[in-house]
Amino acid sequence: MDKILVHGGPRLSGTVRISGSKNSALPILAATLLTKEECIIHRVPDLSDIHYMLQILAFMGCEVERASGTVIVRAEKLSTLAPYDIVRKMRASVCVMGPLLGREREATVSLPGGCVIGDRPIDLHLRGFEKLGAMVRVESGYVKLFANRLRGSVVPMRGKFGSTVLGTDNILMAAVLAEGVTIIEGAAAEPEVVDLANFLIAMGARIEGAGTDRIVVEGVSSLHGAEHRVIPDRIEAGTFLVAGAMAGDRVTVRRVEPSHLAAITKALSVAGFQISTESDAITVGRNGSLHPFNLTTAPYPGFPTDMQAQFCALATLCPGQSHIKDTIFPQRFMHVAELKRMGAEIDLPEVGRAVITGNGRLSAAPVMASDLRASAALVLAGLKAEGVTEINRVYHIDRGYEHLDDKLIGIGAQIERLKTGRP
Ligand code: EPU
Repeated sequence: MDKILVHGGPRLSGTVRISGSKNSALPILAATLLTKEECIIHRVPDLSDIHYMLQILAFMGCEVERASGTVIVRAEKLSTLAPYDIVRKMRASVCVMGPLLGREREATVSLPGGCVIGDRPIDLHLRGFEKLGAMVRVESGYVKLFANRLRGSVVPMRGKFGSTVLGTDNILMAAVLAEGVTIIEGAAAEPEVVDLANFLIAMGARIEGAGTDRIVVEGVSSLHGAEHRVIPDRIEAGTFLVAGAMAGDRVTVRRVEPSHLAAITKALSVAGFQISTESDAITVGRNGSLHPFNLTTAPYPGFPTDMQAQFCALATLCPGQSHIKDTIFPQRFMHVAELKRMGAEIDLPEVGRAVITGNGRLSAAPVMASDLRASAALVLAGLKAEGVTEINRVYHIDRGYEHLDDKLIGIGAQIERLKTGRP
């Protein structure tokens, strides 16, 4: 199990090239199951979550080739089973359900199991499949889906904490091959959903309204192969902007879509950082004194839950009291205990809310990564802490950040990766 050692202190400056979006690439790879023809996907990041998705596709019988960011999938013959051994490694594997149901009218997919960021039900996905006419059974840890015919319907996707992203993806991928018109009400409007819809449209699907809360799909009888470039990863970009804000002079993220990061750059401006934007780049720099801030996570275009942990780390440097609330995953505060071990002053007065008193005093400590974004927050804190922070369980980072340590080293960070050889 690798460890990362982050030496606190060096000032960061320079440019980071942002990779393709993990959360776009995963459902897009699943969508290649919808056709027998070849699909070519560019700008697929090199991450363990992507590797797990490719394993699932290969297990199901797809031919998969991969070379430097491009993945080619041919799903000519298909098994409709996604077993526990593979699915348990990555929750996003639930998004093979929609395409399997759409193309084969059946699927047997393991339930993914627990998740450290909180309860992550898939009730909205399953109810959505039922609305399209599928029979849904949960048996021995597996979801079994079956339909003689799939018929367009009105499918609500809004739950008590907002719309579901992968749920919207799943229904979209089943509805493109259903008979008639499906209206997804309360659809997630995240850029990753739009990216999936654009790929499906390139495959011959008829979809309108992606990026709004009402998506209309007119089913077609079959889809063909397509070529697609995945959008930039707005969360990776946001994480590097916070690194620049915390430990940088001027850090630029390039190959990004700035409009996707509007909530993140606004939050950085409120905290006192200077942001300048070009067509495909954003630069963060210091702009005088820092201020505390209040943030509440919300579905896109609101402030993303996937940036909540990183902003907790940032708040430790902003004098005064910052308030951060996560309404999407209220349990997602595992990083707090670790940040406190590094000298941060953080209270959790109630589930889902953190109050951070910025004291600017972080000191290195051995800490434990608990999930992907929490791990990123610990790396960020380590950049600013006095001494050498040892981060354990860094496989969480490798799930979702392409070469995070190398990219940080490229802008001046001092980071070492220790291979311990233990699983
Ligand atoms: N929810 C339900 N019922 C459902 C599905 C979701 O109540 O059937 C609730 C969830 O419990 C949560 C909220 O709805 O409170 C939103 O969850 P959502 O379904 O949107 O999450 P997801 O689609 O499973 C994706 C990202 C997450 C990101 C969330 C929220 C992927 C692969 N994952 O998950 O990304 O946090 O949307 O934006 O796209 C990450 O990259 O670190 C990550 C966790």
